[in-house]
Amino acid sequence: MKLFKSPLSSLVFLVFFLNFFLVLFTPSHDDHHVIHVHSDTSLTISSIKGNTSPQELVSIHNETYNSTGLKWIKFGHGMKKNMTSLKRIEEGLARSRAFIQKAIRNKNYTSLATQSFVPKGSIYRNPHAFHQSHVEMMKRLKVWVYEEGEQPLVHDGPVNNKYSIEGQFIDEMDMANKSPFKAHDPQQAHLFLLPFSISKVIRYVYKPRRSRSDYDPERLQRLVEDYINVVANKYPYWNRTEGADHFLVSCHDWGPRVSYANPELFKYFIRVLCNANTSEGFEPNRDVSIPEVNLPVGKLGPPDMAQHLNNRPILAFFAGGAHGKIRKKLLKRWKDKDKEVEVHEYLPKGEDYTKLMGQSKFCLCPSGHEVASPRVVEAIYAGCVPVIICDNYSLPFSDVLNWSEFSLEIAVVRIPEIKIILQNVSKDKYRKLYYNVRRVRRHFVINRPAKAFDLMHMILHSLWLRRLNFQLTPS
Ligand SMILES: *[C@@H]1O[C@H](CO)[C@@H](O)[C@H](O)[C@H]1NC(C)=O
Ligand SMILES: *[C@@H]1O[C@H](CO)[C@@H](O)[C@H](O)[C@H]1NC(C)=O
Ligand SMILES: *[C@@H]1O[C@H](CO)[C@@H](O)[C@H](O)[C@H]1NC(C)=O
Ligand SMILES: *[C@@H]1O[C@H](CO)[C@@H](O)[C@H](O)[C@H]1NC(C)=O
Ligand SMILES: *[C@@H]1O[C@H](CO)[C@@H](O)[C@H](O)[C@H]1NC(C)=O
Ligand SMILES: *[C@@H]1O[C@H](CO)[C@@H](O)[C@H](O)[C@H]1NC(C)=O
Ligand SMILES: *[C@@H]1O[C@H](CO)[C@@H](O)[C@H](O)[C@H]1NC(C)=O
Ligand SMILES: *[C@@H]1O[C@H](CO)[C@@H](O)[C@H](O)[C@H]1NC(C)=O
Ligand SMILES: *[C@@H]1O[C@H](CO)[C@@H](O)[C@H](O)[C@H]1NC(C)=O
Repeated sequence: MKLFKSPLSSLVFLVFFLNFFLVLFTPSHDDHHVIHVHSDTSLTISSIKGNTSPQELVSIHNETYNSTGLKWIKFGHGMKKNMTSLKRIEEGLARSRAFIQKAIRNKNYTSLATQSFVPKGSIYRNPHAFHQSHVEMMKRLKVWVYEEGEQPLVHDGPVNNKYSIEGQFIDEMDMANKSPFKAHDPQQAHLFLLPFSISKVIRYVYKPRRSRSDYDPERLQRLVEDYINVVANKYPYWNRTEGADHFLVSCHDWGPRVSYANPELFKYFIRVLCNANTSEGFEPNRDVSIPEVNLPVGKLGPPDMAQHLNNRPILAFFAGGAHGKIRKKLLKRWKDKDKEVEVHEYLPKGEDYTKLMGQSKFCLCPSGHEVASPRVVEAIYAGCVPVIICDNYSLPFSDVLNWSEFSLEIAVVRIPEIKIILQNVSKDKYRKLYYNVRRVRRHFVINRPAKAFDLMHMILHSLWLRRLNFQLTPS
């Protein structure tokens, strides 16, 4: 099917800022990289490809800080009133890029007065960049939620259990104008959400499920493609970027499959996935990895049973089914064999999973049938240092967070050495990891409505970053 094959629409030019992404991948103390990013190469790339003179972009950056806050003096070219919405959006984004670059260059925080929380410390790849980028997101980001389609497949999603993040996100963004990020007009939008729930599709469309052929992914693929077809015919937005500013959120295992049958259609499309397996085509620079969060019915998280760091007698803890190769390996070696490395296939009766995590120093988070595991977030909630045991997993929010500051990774081949490796972690290192887990917790907490820097904001910020990374210019 060649439906959407036309090269980028002649109306709009899509320019990728190849370098901008590096901004947040670069530690703030690494001057070499910072200077490189600031050498305006990213702007030059856009100038060449986007037919925009460098002066034009520079003038967009002609802002002046107001030391009391975020306000800048509007440049007086009288352009502001006479801009198409797209131009206005791009000017805003250009200003945001400039503010972020400035924050990195100066290594300081602006607008502190308006923020109750300021990201600081080593858990961030670049706290200044992240802080400013979050400020910019709060100021500008607008997401259009397509209105087409009916519940339960669209505009709905599971809000409990392990795929809950799918429904929580759709609900947060789709609720009648409650989210400040929701665009009231698609012309103002930076991003476009296809409010599909893969979990609901699997639940309602894949019935009955008797034989292997009843699991054919084609039905799912056709549904999503039909939806894209409808909105691409009705509105100009899909065609103008070939979907580069469009996204879908899926925690269900089948999320990645939406694009398998027609990779050309989804070439630029942003897939927001729990199942961020790079061996299955997850693209860290285009797609977004989100954590799996297992929500009890009617709650936004488990009870807090985290003990202080001196009150954690269990070295390592795991309880769960023997799903997938990695867990089989773990259980084979460690199941019920060691008092300090508590590994259970099923938790003994009367034991409390959350409580045990709260009493453990390290929580083992091996992949199951899929790379993501709700254990990572459960561990963070319980103040237990997550030990990631998986292959080809792109960890959530790694654009911003430095996972090695608050988790450990143990290669699958080293499963037999788990105890030696964990015993070998010095007191100081464990202390650092423990306190960093506590620091990073706020980024994994779900609030409804969303609050600054929480999990919903982290998801939106990942999307915002991807949108910052390209520019649309009328041509
Ligand atoms: C920046 O703004 C000032 C005052 O509005 C103006 O005089 C100056 O020409 C502008 N510079 C650029 C590069 O646009
Ligand atoms: C700077 O901030 C102050 C206090 O918020 C405000 O009164 C003033 O108008 C601002 N200046 C500009 C140029 O935005
Ligand atoms: C807007 O700008 C364009 C060219 O940049 C000009 O042709 C047009 O007359 C302007 N419109 C208004 C309302 O000023
Ligand atoms: C940030 O740092 C730069 C350079 O060190 C300085 O000129 C500027 O005033 C600082 N801004 C704030 C808001 O502290
Ligand atoms: C988008 O492109 C497709 C395929 O080229 C075309 O059929 C459709 O009409 C276009 N949509 C709009 C709104 O022009
Ligand atoms: C996946 O992981 C395996 C084992 O660590 C590695 O050999 C392989 O190169 C990885 N594949 C990709 C696509 O990253
Ligand atoms: C990741 O994808 C590869 C390739 O499809 C697969 O072999 C592997 O089992 C997947 N990982 C997990 C944990 O499912
Ligand atoms: C992440 O943290 C590790 C140490 O925990 C450090 O070696 C590495 O340089 C950090 N990476 C970034 C991008 O800050
Ligand atoms: C124990 O830690 C030391 C230094 O931190 C390291 O050099 C050594 O390889 C570690 N041993 C094991 C078995 O991980």
